[in-house]
Parts: sequence; C-alpha cells; structure tokens
Amino acid sequence: MKKKFLNLGKQPITNSFLKDIDTKTINKEYFYNLSVGFNNKNYLVSLMNHVDPKKQFTNQYAHRASQSKTMRESFKKTAKKLKERFKPNNCLEIGSNDGVFIKNFKKKQIIAVEPCTNLAKITQSEGYKTYGKFWNKKIASIIKKKHRKFDLIFSANTISHIPNLDEVFKSVSMVLKEEGVFVFEDPYIGSVIQNNSYDQFYDEHVHLFSLISISKIVSKAQLKVFDAEITKNHGGSICFYVCRKDSKSIETKRLKLLKKKEIKQGLHKLKTYQKFSNRVAESRKKLVQLLKDLKKKNKKIISYGATYKSATIFNYCNIGKELIDYVVDTTPNKQGKFTPGKHIPIISPEIGFDSSVDYAFLGAWNFKREIQAKEKNFINRGGKFIIHVPKVKII
Ligand code: TYD
Repeated sequence: MKKKFLNLGKQPITNSFLKDIDTKTINKEYFYNLSVGFNNKNYLVSLMNHVDPKKQFTNQYAHRASQSKTMRESFKKTAKKLKERFKPNNCLEIGSNDGVFIKNFKKKQIIAVEPCTNLAKITQSEGYKTYGKFWNKKIASIIKKKHRKFDLIFSANTISHIPNLDEVFKSVSMVLKEEGVFVFEDPYIGSVIQNNSYDQFYDEHVHLFSLISISKIVSKAQLKVFDAEITKNHGGSICFYVCRKDSKSIETKRLKLLKKKEIKQGLHKLKTYQKFSNRVAESRKKLVQLLKDLKKKNKKIISYGATYKSATIFNYCNIGKELIDYVVDTTPNKQGKFTPGKHIPIISPEIGFDSSVDYAFLGAWNFKREIQAKEKNFINRGGKFIIHVPKVKII
C-alpha cells in the first residue's frame, strides 16, 4: 500500500544538537534511514519508518516558536482571525511549544497540551494550564473529565509529527463540541513538490499532508474538512478546518478549488512523487558543486539558521565543516553546540556573521525576507545568500 519514492539516507534526529563532539558522544549518536513513501489508498505521504517520539520530544527540546518575529506575528494574526470567525468560549491547543499561540488568549479561555516538559513548564509557570503529555486518547479522556468539550481546538506543526493519525482524530472527536471546530496547520506536500523543498522531510515530519489525504483520514473519526487554505508559514503550509460529519458547516468554495488544484498537480499519483525524487537528486548535485566551486575560490561559506531542515540537507548531501565553516543561529540553546550528524559548530550571529563571511547558505530559507531585511549590511558589502529552493542559486 505504501510505496517508497525517496531515500534521503542515514539521518540523525534533527533536534539532537550535540554539546560535545568527543568520540564517546559521536559513537552514541542515533541514526536511522530516512525514506519516504506514498500510500495510494489514502494519498498520504509519510516516512517509511518513524523514530520513537520519546526520543524526539524530550525535556531538552530546543525549538522555541516565540523566537521568530515572523512566527509571533503569524500566530497573533491567526488567533485574531479564529476568534472573529468562530467566537470560541473555550479552546484547547495541541502542541503549544513555548506558548506563542495561547498567549493571544485569556488564561481562563485556553488550555494546552505539550509533550516537551521543558516547554510545558514555561507556559504552566505563566499561568496557562498546560498538560506535559503526548496527545492521545488517554490525555483526551482526562481533559474531557476536567474541562469538558471545546468550541475550538487548534494545533500548528504538531499533527504531522504524530505517527498514529487515527488515534489523533478519534481523540480530537472525544473533546470537540457538537458544532466545535478543529483547526490545524502543518507543512504542505503541494508546496514541497512545487518548491523542491525536500528538506521538509526529517524525523519530526512523519507525514506531509494534502487536502485529499486528510479528507480521507478524518472521515474515519466521523469528522469532515469543511475549509482549507494554503499559508506561507514554514515555506508553505496547509491549514485545515475540521468539524463533525453531522455539523451544519458547509464546504467552502476555496476548499473545492483546492481539491481540484491538487488533482491537477497530481498529488494522488505515485508518478508525481517519483519525478520529484529525481529533482531532489539533481538539487543535491548542484548544491554540492556550487559549494565546492566557491571553496576552490577561497570563499568563506557559513549557514544561516541551525534549522532541522538543514540537517536533512547536510546529511543527505554529505556537507560538513570542509564546506560550511559554521552555522549562525539566534537561539541561545543551540549556540555552542554542533549540528546533528555533520557536527558543524553553531554560534551566535553577533559573533559569527562578520565581515569575513562571503556566502551564507539559507538554512532558514523560510525566513528569507526577515533575514534579508535584517542583514542589509551583509548584502550591501557584497555578501551573498545561497538558497536551494525552488532551485539552487546565489541570491
Ligand atoms: P525553523 O523555521 O523552526 O525551521 P526548522 O523547523 O527547519 O528548524 O527554524 C528557524 C531557525 O533559524 C531557528 O533556529 C532560529 C533561526 N533564525 C535565526 O537564527 N535568525 C533569524 O533571523 C531567523 C528568522 C531565524
């Protein structure tokens, strides 16, 4: 049923930034084979083998959604839009990270579930009721007993991380009011195919959704998608609006249009993904060649943003310290560490993004505009960014 179409080779856990690169630490580093498949029954694109979530979502989880201005503003806008459209009395967020979304709500109006306990502790200490748990039937049942059911359930960049989707939606169904709405947003496979952004595949992205796949999957939990929209977040995401099958909500016009667009793009055919796989191999060749050519000319290349996405690229393309001197990143708990798998040092932009840098590979290409605006001095003095989406080029 699930046919493999892409093999990105031996990969580490993208969130596992190394504190040291001594032999003992390196020997202990966990690797798995990252390959991706297409299910021709429900059209879902997902990893052939997933990593144990307990290895990924630990009490040392590094990513903080609040640290990006783009994301803070995006979540603020989303919260405002949802409040105006659905006028919820009570809300639940699944995967609240450091509270970037819930902070737009009154403390009594929203509760949160977040398995990374270092993050759950932050929002709990700020007065937001936060359950430091994985989303499943068990926690849904506890929440139902304590808080009853919800008008609005929200989740961003979380549902695609959970291997068992049937359990996800059945658990949502347990705590969703009769006319309640479940809104969730995750990276979009249509954008990945269009942009050749194969770096959206990594251990945490167990699935990459399309409208045609999610429509089939939620149906098993007696739910239906009544609206969907494509957003710019994370380089191209899809936001689904889901309700009960017997809800009064009716399918929107844009939902019908998007379904047609996906069929036209061929998201229901294995062939589309096989062609994409050929373009990925081509992209690797070009990127490695470009970096090698620049290195031959004695140019200093660094990477901008210690993203999970760039871990996929560096490990798949076998790019290490010989090509990228170091990575700059504003996240304090990534600084001083080393990238997973290829062990490139990570330092703060204040220290590393100086006049010695000739080229910066945009590991955080999804924040291209924010970074270009911030780094005008680099551009003005002749510094150049390298990007690999939709094609490998110097910008
Ligand atoms: P993110 O977008 O979450 O990508 P991924 O999910 O692939 O990890 O990560 C963006 C990273 O880039 C994050 O570590 C912060 C960093 N960053 C900077 O260092 N400077 C910036 O100006 C921006 C916007 C991000």
